[in-house]
Amino acid sequence: TYVVTDACIRCKYMDCVEVCPVDCFYEGENMLVINPSECIDCGVCEPECPAEAILPDTDSGLEKWIELNNEFANQWPNITRKREAPADADQWKDVKNKLETEFS
Ligand code: SF4
Ligand code: F3S
Repeated sequence: TYVVTDACIRCKYMDCVEVCPVDCFYEGENMLVINPSECIDCGVCEPECPAEAILPDTDSGLEKWIELNNEFANQWPNITRKREAPADADQWKDVKNKLETEFS
């Protein structure tokens, strides 16, 4: 499966939802997540994300994000259509560790 990681936070460009063949993205206030039990591992979303937030779960060090995607995919609503990204999305694009610095 693929996972959405820190770079999505406050960027939320939503290009990913337009290309997913199985519509397995779920939407929180500040980011999206992928439902690991629905993702078919096709990889088409990875290059679509302008923030490079989507990674294969086989990459190292993603344990926290694998858990977070799984947890919130079961709580947040499904999203299948792209909307306008947040007005300040570009300002957040290159900020690192947004989960730690903004939400703890
Ligand atoms: Fe959807 Fe494919 Fe991305 Fe999985 S890897 S979230 S199936 S586009
Ligand atoms: Fe987030 Fe990238 Fe999709 S910023 S909403 S994972 S296109």
